[in-house]
Amino acid sequence: MLSGMPPPRLLVPAVVVAVSAASGLAAGRSVETSEAIPMDPHSHADPNRVRVTHVALDLELDFAARRVAGRVELSLARPDAGAPLVLDVQGLEIEAVTGPDGRPREFELGPEDPTLGGALTVALAPGDELVAVAYRTGPGAEALQWLDPEQTAGGRHPFLYTQGQAVLTRTWIPLQDTPGVRTTYEARVAVAYDPPAGAAGSGDDGLTVVMSAEQLGRGEDGAWRFRMPQPIPSYLIALAAGDLAFEPISARSGVYAEPSIVQGARDELVDTEAMIAAAEELFGPYRWGRYDVIVLPPAFPYGGMENPRLTFATPTILAGDRSLVALVAHELAHSWSGNLVTNATWSDFWLNEGFTVYLEKRIMEAVFGEERARMEILLERDALEKELAELDARDQVLDIDLVGRHPDDGFSGVPYDKGALFLRRLEQEVGREVFDAFLLRYFDEHAFRSIRTADFEAYLAEHLPAAAAEVDVREWLHAPGLPEDAPRVRSEALQVVDDARARWLAGEPASALDSGGWVTQQWLHFLEGLPDDLGAERMAALDDAFGFGESGNSEIQCVWLRLAVQHGYGAADAHLEEFLMTVGRRKYLSPLYKELVKTEAGRARALEIYARARPRYHHVSAKTLDGILGWDGQGG
Ligand code: BES
Ligand code: ZN
Repeated sequence: MLSGMPPPRLLVPAVVVAVSAASGLAAGRSVETSEAIPMDPHSHADPNRVRVTHVALDLELDFAARRVAGRVELSLARPDAGAPLVLDVQGLEIEAVTGPDGRPREFELGPEDPTLGGALTVALAPGDELVAVAYRTGPGAEALQWLDPEQTAGGRHPFLYTQGQAVLTRTWIPLQDTPGVRTTYEARVAVAYDPPAGAAGSGDDGLTVVMSAEQLGRGEDGAWRFRMPQPIPSYLIALAAGDLAFEPISARSGVYAEPSIVQGARDELVDTEAMIAAAEELFGPYRWGRYDVIVLPPAFPYGGMENPRLTFATPTILAGDRSLVALVAHELAHSWSGNLVTNATWSDFWLNEGFTVYLEKRIMEAVFGEERARMEILLERDALEKELAELDARDQVLDIDLVGRHPDDGFSGVPYDKGALFLRRLEQEVGREVFDAFLLRYFDEHAFRSIRTADFEAYLAEHLPAAAAEVDVREWLHAPGLPEDAPRVRSEALQVVDDARARWLAGEPASALDSGGWVTQQWLHFLEGLPDDLGAERMAALDDAFGFGESGNSEIQCVWLRLAVQHGYGAADAHLEEFLMTVGRRKYLSPLYKELVKTEAGRARALEIYARARPRYHHVSAKTLDGILGWDGQGG
C-alpha cells in the first residue's frame, strides 16, 4: 500500500520536537510574539494577553465512533501574566485541563454560538508556559468529514478529512482559532480501525494518515508523526486518513490518492514541478520544503484547499487532459499569498484570495502561455459581472465588514476576482517589472505574518507611490461594484468562439463550426454565452453534435447540466442525478440546485434527490444548499 511513499525520516521524540519547534530553532525563525494581533470578531481569544505559540497534538481517530479523541498541549507566551488563557471551542467534550506540573487547572466553558462556538477559559498558574487539554470531538464536528467506504474510489475502506478554513478548526482542536495567531505544530496520530475481513487489498496494514506538515512516518507504536516547524494560522492545520498511495512528480512534489486513481492523478498533475519553479522565479523561494497534493474522494466540498505542504484537492480536476490544473496553480500560489502572508481577520480575505488569483494567472501564463491565462481571466471576469448583478452592495467591497456575520458570508467572486483585478490594475499602472519587484519584496517583508487590509494600503502607499497616486485605491478597497478602470483583457481564442456561436445561432450547422481543436476554456465560453431562450431542441442538437452529456470534464458537465435544467432538456436527467449524488463540491452543487428550484417540478425533484444526497455532503455544502432549498430537515 505504501510503495512509493517518501522514505520515513528518523523519528524524533515528540518532546524534543516540541522544544526545538517552539523555540523556532528548527526553522531558523521564531514565532513573532512582540507585535500586537488585531482584534478578530470571529474568535473568543485574547492573544495580546496570552498567546498560543505551539500546538502539540496526540490524537486517536476512531472510525467506528466517528470521533477524534486525545490531548493537545499548548505552549504559551504571556505578555499579561495575570490574564487567563481563552481558547475557541465548538462542540468539544473537555475532559481535563492540566498545567505543566500535570495537576488540574480550573476552566470554564462559555455558551456556544452556532457560528463561533464558545470560549474555553483556563485559569493559569503563575509559571504556566504550557497547558494540556484532554478532549474529544462532538458528534457534529463540522471540520470533520467521515466517509463511508461507498464514498471512496476503492469502496472498501472509510476515509476522513478535515477542513479548517474559516472557523472550523475549533470543532476538532481547542485553540486560538484566529488567522492573526500563528503557531508551529506537531502531531502524533493513531488510528482505531479494523479493516473488514478480507479487505486487505494491497498488503493492508491499516489506513495512511497525512497532515499539512512534514510527514515523519509511522513509529513502532503504529502511530503517525508530523511536524510543522513554520508558524501557521490555525485554519491550515489539516489531516486526512484513508487507503492512500503516493506517486512522486519531482524530488519535492508528488500526489497522494487512493491506489486505484493515484497513477492517473499523478499524470494529470505532472506539471506541478514546473509550476513551483515558475512561482519561485516570480515570487521568491518556496519556503515549505515539499509540495504535495492529495486527491480526495468527490465529497470534498471545495475545489482545493491550500493546506501547507499538502494541498487538498477534489478529484473533479482530473479531466484526463490536464485542462483543469489551474486549481493546482491556485493552491500552490497560496504558499505565498495566504500561507506565508496571511489575512489577519476574515474581513481581509481578499488579501489571501485576490492575491492568489493574481498569482495563479501569472503561474498559468508562465507554464502554459499567455493565451491560456487570458482565457481564464476572461471567463472569471464574465462570472464576476454576473455575480455582482445579484450581490448585496455591502458584499461587493474588498474590505468587507463581517462583524456579526459568518465568515462564509464574505465568500464570493469579489475577494477572488475583484481582488485580482485590483492587483492587475496596479500592475498596469507601474508596469510588470516594477510590480513584480514590489510583490517579491511584499512577500519577503511580510513572510510568516498575518496582516490587515490597512497594512497593505500603507505598504502600497510607501512602496508603490506611483500606483497609489494614480489608482483610486480607496474606491477599489471600500466601494461596491467594479471601478471603471478595471483592466480588460482580450482573447483571440475566445473571440473565435463568440463568432462560431453567433454563426450557429444564425443557422449554420454545428459541423461547420471548425471546433475540432477547441480547448476546455473555449467550450466553457461557448456554453456560458448561449441565450436564455435556447430551448430543449437546440440543446439536443448541441448534444448530438458535441456530446456534452458524455463529457468527462467536470467544469463542462456542470455548466451543461445547469443548461439542461434551464432549458428542460430531459435527456440529461440521469446524469444530473448521478452528479448530484456523487460530487460534493459546493461550487458545482449550488448553481445546479439553484436552477432546479426555479420551477415547481424542478423543486420537487431537487428535494427528492437532496434527501438522499445530503448525508453524503460535507456540512459546508449542506449549509449552503439548505438555504437554497429551504431545507428544514423534514423534507423541505
Ligand atoms: N482557500 C480556498 C478555499 C476556502 C475558502 C475554503 C474559504 C474555506 C473558506 C481555496 O484556495 C480556493 O479558493 N479554492 C477554490 C479553487 C480556486 C481555483 C478558485 C475552490 O475550492 O473552488
Ligand atoms: Zn484560494
